Amino acid sequence: MPRISINAIGLTSPRVASFRKATGRRQSPWYLSRPQLLTTCCFFILLYLYFHFGSTPIAIPPDSYQLLVDESLKDILNTTLGFQKILVLNLPFRTDRKDAMTLAAATSNIELEFVDGVTGDSIRQSAYPPPSENVKLSAGIRGSWRTHMNALQRVVQENLTTALIFEDDVDWDVRLRPNLQRFALASRFLSENKEVLSSSPSKYPIEQRLNTETSETTFHTLSQYGITEKLPSLPLSSVNQKPLLSGQSHHGAPSSPYGDPSQWDILWIGHCGAGFPRYRSSSRKIEVTAKSVLLTLLNDATVPLPKWIKAHPFQSEPDPLASAYPPHTRIYHRGSGGLLCTVGYAVSQRGARRILHQFGVKEWNGIFDSELGKWCAAEDERLKTGSADGSKKEKKGKERVCLTSQPPIFAHHHPMEGESDIGGLGGGYARKHETKYLRYSVRMNLEKIVRAEKALKDQWPDE
Ligand SMILES: *[C@@H]1O[C@H](CO)[C@@H](O)[C@H](O)[C@H]1NC(C)=O
Ligand SMILES: *[C@@H]1O[C@H](CO)[C@@H](O)[C@H](O)[C@H]1NC(C)=O
Repeated sequence: MPRISINAIGLTSPRVASFRKATGRRQSPWYLSRPQLLTTCCFFILLYLYFHFGSTPIAIPPDSYQLLVDESLKDILNTTLGFQKILVLNLPFRTDRKDAMTLAAATSNIELEFVDGVTGDSIRQSAYPPPSENVKLSAGIRGSWRTHMNALQRVVQENLTTALIFEDDVDWDVRLRPNLQRFALASRFLSENKEVLSSSPSKYPIEQRLNTETSETTFHTLSQYGITEKLPSLPLSSVNQKPLLSGQSHHGAPSSPYGDPSQWDILWIGHCGAGFPRYRSSSRKIEVTAKSVLLTLLNDATVPLPKWIKAHPFQSEPDPLASAYPPHTRIYHRGSGGLLCTVGYAVSQRGARRILHQFGVKEWNGIFDSELGKWCAAEDERLKTGSADGSKKEKKGKERVCLTSQPPIFAHHHPMEGESDIGGLGGGYARKHETKYLRYSVRMNLEKIVRAEKALKDQWPDE
């Protein structure tokens, strides 16, 4: 069992832990006696930064415990993980879940705000959007939907730029912040980069991997488009260049470490399974764009061996990720191939408004996570009706942008055995004590963490 230090991985004090090592510390006060030397040094440092800003990729350390050192990724180390707020959905009578959630977050130096969940029975019939059949859905499904709407309503009302929304049984690996930093590099590229990647093969070394999804894949119902034959893949390190990242705020919009929030809707990083991207394909040669590409991070030690990559205890075959990529590969891509479970997802203000409109105002009739999965998989109706000159060009900035990571960064703790826990909120009690996908799970190690034990348990060891 590997021994790891809790402080070293930024659990208790991320800022101190990460940057002390990076910056080092000089004790001798040479600069007090030599102001000119200091000025000269500063000048050259600034000159260096001036010429190199825009060309130096951010180094991704091979060790998955190690944080990335870059100003633009620093906010991910803060108590709200680089989002403006973290909202947790909790039914007020589930104080047990609130206790555990509060404790887990505290040990990871995360600041939460709780949003009261509601039960389906407390919702008046007149309060549902069309169609009227939705009142026949189970009380659990209706309550879960309403609770998510309450959270989105709050994001809109408080005009939050970005918010991370958790269900109260969420779990994460102790290497959460390093994980999120790597995701942020990917999300900036996938949300903001609109150019055709296949047009410059030297710049983007695209590898066409075989898609191992089958029609039995759980998610085939969630997207209207078929399974693609190939998976155009690119190493995260090859797209990790500052010019793409520094284009922070178009139109003066507020920025985020995860990419301009006016360019993405949902960062769906807590789920129980995702499909590879699906998109409209024509007979013409398919162009590789940010919509279809999958970014890869090889040798990610937070990723379990292929045989452990499963969303549920009753799943017989591992997720397609396990067979499509080498062991310990993490991938990042658009969430257009269907996603299930809303255990942790971030919304931008744009995304919160769109989802609240879709499911709070316009139409809602189904389990919230699968409805949201369909929303991400579909294209906006308005966009499909080409322009006057008959061209089918999409209007810029209007497409739905949901981004995800496989395996997920957040996962359900206490999944119910033999039954999908997709209702999420308030659903049942744990029969099997585990968290799928997460190796050094915070929940599984909670006792060790609060007792400040050094050696944490890897749930899915390599052997
Ligand atoms: C964390 O960083 C985000 C993004 O810059 C910011 O919006 C948020 O206010 C910060 N949270 C805290 C507690 O400093
Ligand atoms: C909401 O936030 C945006 C961007 O930060 C700002 O331009 C707008 O004025 C805000 N609206 C309100 C009502 O505060």
